[in-house]
Amino acid sequence: MIILEARNLKKSYSEKGRTIAAVRDVSLSISAGEVLAFLGPNGAGKTTSIKMIAGLIQPDDGWVRISDRDPHRNPQALRSLGAVLEGNRNVYWRLTAEENLEYFGVLRGLDQRTARRRGRELLERFSLMDKRQTVVQSLSRGMQQKLAISVALMHQPQLLLLDEPTLGLDVEATEDVKQLVREIATEGCAILLTTHQLAIAEELSDRVAIINRGEIVAEEATEDLIQRFSGSTYVIEPERAIEPERIRKLEALGVTITEDGVVHATEPTQLYAVLEILNPLPLLRVQKDQANLTDVFLKLVRENRNV
Ligand SMILES: Nc1ncnc2c1ncn2[C@@H]1O[C@H](COP(=O)(O)OP(=O)(O)OP(=O)(O)O)[C@@H](O)[C@H]1O
Ligand SMILES: [Mg+2]
Repeated sequence: MIILEARNLKKSYSEKGRTIAAVRDVSLSISAGEVLAFLGPNGAGKTTSIKMIAGLIQPDDGWVRISDRDPHRNPQALRSLGAVLEGNRNVYWRLTAEENLEYFGVLRGLDQRTARRRGRELLERFSLMDKRQTVVQSLSRGMQQKLAISVALMHQPQLLLLDEPTLGLDVEATEDVKQLVREIATEGCAILLTTHQLAIAEELSDRVAIINRGEIVAEEATEDLIQRFSGSTYVIEPERAIEPERIRKLEALGVTITEDGVVHATEPTQLYAVLEILNPLPLLRVQKDQANLTDVFLKLVRENRNV
């Protein structure tokens, strides 16, 4: 079931008489339970796109549907949406954690009692119960971020927009947020996630959309995208140096052996022949040369820069 559909979004800003095309053409869709990583370099147009999706700024062109409703025309659409935007303006600094949850819960249509109960559940779940009476400005950065996500989840939205949710968090808080994203997706929420930490995107996302200079340059299942950029080379690393006799045999096969004694087989078919020659030497690793999202990202963004 498609929860978010955005088509051909465009947005220009004018600043000091100049026009900046922040978003030229962005189309995205996300289904229930799916995590879409929305990636791109600084200034590519991610936050602008998210603000259009969240109904906060009006697109110059294109349209958005959240569970079939237009957030720019139908305020009901906002009931299906939770958003944690860039920066730290998502919660009120002078209110306590619990007050924030209740305030925003009621604002999004919960009655006071439900808001209180749901707020407690989220405080419990995010391990913030002992901080419930602390004002936000006295919480740590990670706690503030977890609270901002809790606030976004108060009314059980079908779509969650997370703009750099792990920015500035330490290792443990980052792991917490990652775990939460996984759980929320498992519960059926559609999630749009932007991050500059590509390893996180790789771990969490089902699909990736890469935006560069306001345009989507790739959109694909994360695994497929990485696979498409991965070579078919195998790396075989013996534990100890290979003797000259074996090296001769390997070279006859046409594989390369680097100075550090690692064998690189460029044809997948060479792999077993190499293993046969090395048998019974103990091996440290046999690995397929696998790209990661960082390689893919850099390649796509650089390619795009050259055109
Ligand atoms: N309110 C604004 N007024 C004028 N220009 C803006 C405004 N907001 C964003 N821009 C410009 O639009 C472009 C896209 O900005 P945006 O914030 O969407 O990028 P981003 O992909 O979120 O970047 P980052 O990774 O740094 O958060 C940039 O050139 C930015 O300077
Ligand atoms: Mg941004």
